[in-house]
Amino acid sequence: GERHPSIPLPKDLFAPERRNSEGVDLQDKDTLAGVASAIASSPLPLAGGAGGGQVPNPSANGKAVPSPNPSRKREGEMVARAQAAYPAWTARPVHERAACLERLADLLEQHRTELMAVCVHEARKTIPDALAEVREAVDFCRYYAEQARGYLVPIELPGPTGERNVLRHEGRGVWATIAPWNFPLAIFLGQTVAALVAGNAVIAKPAPQTPRIAARAVELAHQAGIPEDVLILAPGGPDVGAALVADPRVAGVAFTGSTATARKIARELLANENRPLVPLIAETGGVNAMIVDSTALAEQVVQDVVTSSFRSAGQRCSALRLLLLQEEIAESTLEMLSGAMDTLIIGDPADPATDVGPVIDRQAYDNLMGRREAMRNSWIKTIDVPAEGNFVPPTTIRLRSMDDLDREWFGPLLHVATWRAGDLERTISHVNGKGFGLTMGLHSRIARSAETVEALARVGNLYVNRSMIGAIVGSQPFGGEGFSGTGPKAGGPHYLPRFCAERVTSTDT
Ligand code: SER
Repeated sequence: GERHPSIPLPKDLFAPERRNSEGVDLQDKDTLAGVASAIASSPLPLAGGAGGGQVPNPSANGKAVPSPNPSRKREGEMVARAQAAYPAWTARPVHERAACLERLADLLEQHRTELMAVCVHEARKTIPDALAEVREAVDFCRYYAEQARGYLVPIELPGPTGERNVLRHEGRGVWATIAPWNFPLAIFLGQTVAALVAGNAVIAKPAPQTPRIAARAVELAHQAGIPEDVLILAPGGPDVGAALVADPRVAGVAFTGSTATARKIARELLANENRPLVPLIAETGGVNAMIVDSTALAEQVVQDVVTSSFRSAGQRCSALRLLLLQEEIAESTLEMLSGAMDTLIIGDPADPATDVGPVIDRQAYDNLMGRREAMRNSWIKTIDVPAEGNFVPPTTIRLRSMDDLDREWFGPLLHVATWRAGDLERTISHVNGKGFGLTMGLHSRIARSAETVEALARVGNLYVNRSMIGAIVGSQPFGGEGFSGTGPKAGGPHYLPRFCAERVTSTDT
């Protein structure tokens, strides 16, 4: 094929994405410098209540700090406390609960630098990612507050037979929210404040890797006016989550994590014959593909592929896993992609210049390195990384066929396959056939192709001629289908009602 020289990419490859809340300039150099110096000058801020389970330090090589095994009695007591606090909270007018979320949003912004520093320390996020993290948490609080004021009020329905019909959205009781480490503030809080504003009490379990930022968020939520027994932090490992899910008094579960764990939760919720049928909202992973045809703008493709695959070290459920290039442009695109990968700065996430930091812990590192090693003969490109720490080298891997990838590798490994001109529909159906349905990307200048992909792709979020990550609250409601989750979409208009009981009163007039 035709050879293209690799073109140097602009240095803002990983510029923090735009968000829709006001008052924060994401390009602000002072903010970045402020966080960098806060991280450099302070030890890891310790928030109260962050005990329980294992607390690994992801910057070191898998040294876990053991802490006492939490007892099941502890979770039972938490549910009892939340149950006792629930009636008063759910009786509060929705605008009061919404005001608590707005005060929390303000507090998050006031404590932005501190929260970013904890995020960088604990989750090893880069500074731009940590900034986007706080911003998304703020967006969730403000968005759900606004949605609650608009839609969680009594709605008058038609009364053709002369009756008065009123639909109300009310709390269901005590929810358990179970959060992942990859968005330890945004998703942790997003699930939690949605349940709260809908009139529920919440027991919130952060991932065992990221208890500290969650503890700080819960402290701020209490400061914002959410009573201590209405929002209870339950740090710890899978045993804590399992105990909460098994408690028949828990009236709903919101979970973000693996498909396998979501299945376990679903089974547990149905296991007890005497337990009420309760909702599970699960957001899980994906084998997310980007389809590129020969009309695509090569420079833009390369920039969007690098961002979608390697930013956040590939540790986003939205991240690009499977790049599908039309045969004619495969070699030239891969050559340019290799050139772009050479410009990535891999290193300490506390350094504002860093593009890609380490993966979350040693277990993730070993898992990803195992895959990478097994595919050694198929490497297209890999780059050097620091030897100390859990750095997985960003690597592109050639597949003989797009069918050779059927599971999610949650890190900076990008698998690549090709497709033939005229085979667009078959290509989409192969991707659909994997059973996941989270994100998909298309790069093409042909409007008809975009229509075809839109009509056939079974995914929750389709991105055309742009990157595949960084969904914006309120504008790009996020979440998938199939193995990727139950819906409803986070940051979308149908999220809150799922946390509610819908009740209708019909009165003869
Ligand atoms: N909301 C995140 C994103 O869009 C999910 O990983 O990137």
